[in-house]
Amino acid sequence: MYVCICNAVTDRDILKAIDEGVSTVEGLGEALNVGTCCGRCKSCAEGLIQNTQMKAGYDSDMFQLAVSA
Ligand code: FES
Repeated sequence: MYVCICNAVTDRDILKAIDEGVSTVEGLGEALNVGTCCGRCKSCAEGLIQNTQMKAGYDSDMFQLAVSA
């Protein structure tokens, strides 16, 4: 799915960048030009970052529970 229409950036492109260490919308702008035109994609890009970080935290918590059980 295209997230940034202006720059033809997909959710996969963004998730790959997040996986490679990008953690802010500004970083996505530097890496992929997300949000550097009209800016309408910024909230969606921010949502992808937050969801990925929340999932990583959940996975970490589940790992800690499994290790301590
Ligand atoms: S949709 Fe991303 S800058 Fe316009």
